[in-house]
Amino acid sequence: MTVKISQTAEVQKFFEEASGFNSEQGSPRIKQLMLRIVNDIARIVEDLEVTQDEFWMAVDYINRLGGRHEAGLLVAGLGLEHFLDLLQDAKDEQAGLTGGTPRTIEGPLYVAGAPISQGETRMDDGSELDEATVMFLQGRVVDTDGNPVAGATVDLWHANTKGNYSYFDKSQSEYNLRRRIVTDAEGRYRARSIVPSGYGCSADGPTQECLDLLGRHGQRPAHIHFFISAPGHRLLTTQINLAGDQYLWDDFAYATRDGLVGDIRFIDDAAAADARGVQGRFAELDFDFQLQKAVSLEAELRSQRPRALQVQGA
Ligand SMILES: [Fe+2]
Repeated sequence: MTVKISQTAEVQKFFEEASGFNSEQGSPRIKQLMLRIVNDIARIVEDLEVTQDEFWMAVDYINRLGGRHEAGLLVAGLGLEHFLDLLQDAKDEQAGLTGGTPRTIEGPLYVAGAPISQGETRMDDGSELDEATVMFLQGRVVDTDGNPVAGATVDLWHANTKGNYSYFDKSQSEYNLRRRIVTDAEGRYRARSIVPSGYGCSADGPTQECLDLLGRHGQRPAHIHFFISAPGHRLLTTQINLAGDQYLWDDFAYATRDGLVGDIRFIDDAAAADARGVQGRFAELDFDFQLQKAVSLEAELRSQRPRALQVQGA
């Protein structure tokens, strides 16, 4: 049997030293995680006979990934963000926390502090009306017994017709296509917006470079992101993915799930458009969200994931 150098007592002791185990300072948790990470990398290098060239190309890749702020995109593309959902689903099932609208990945493009309004809102700034299809999105937030949740905050964000998000796309106005709506007494929310487009990873970015080497595309179907929160209820992180999109079940980020497909209807009816105060073709999308009860105060809040913009209390 070949001796694995990475597993010898001497190297293990060395990795413990490198992970800070001989120091009283620092974080015990980070030391524990780092020892495992260093160990696992060493095992990969040894077991898969990673060459010097491959190792240093990987180091360079990490630098470039960070330089383009694409680490959040890569973890989605490699299925790791979806894996976190699968893990939480399994833990929930064990704990008997079932029912309600399925969770799915947040993605890296949320921006806190979007304008907030009661019951209804308009999300687009009108700049794309020549090319966009107006979308009327509405629904209810209910609990697992089907009772309306009044005063829930529906925090939603989506891409424009080019598949770009405001804040990250500096050509868009501030908070374009990002809003918070507080549900009315019947748990209802309503938004007028535009039909979002799907999008792909930047063709010249490091995430697509990796996907190319895996023989995969980097496309997402058109979708709308949500955080739904209400006192006493568990915060829901989810997305509606739009039916009819060619990437609906071929999403590079694996966010589409049963129960999260939005049946968007396109309507070509001049009288109906008139009644809505719009011209030409428009779309309607109805989607209800069901929230679980919160088992702790922490469950009512979104994760502490570092995001693009930290806004106090928003
Ligand atoms: Fe997205």
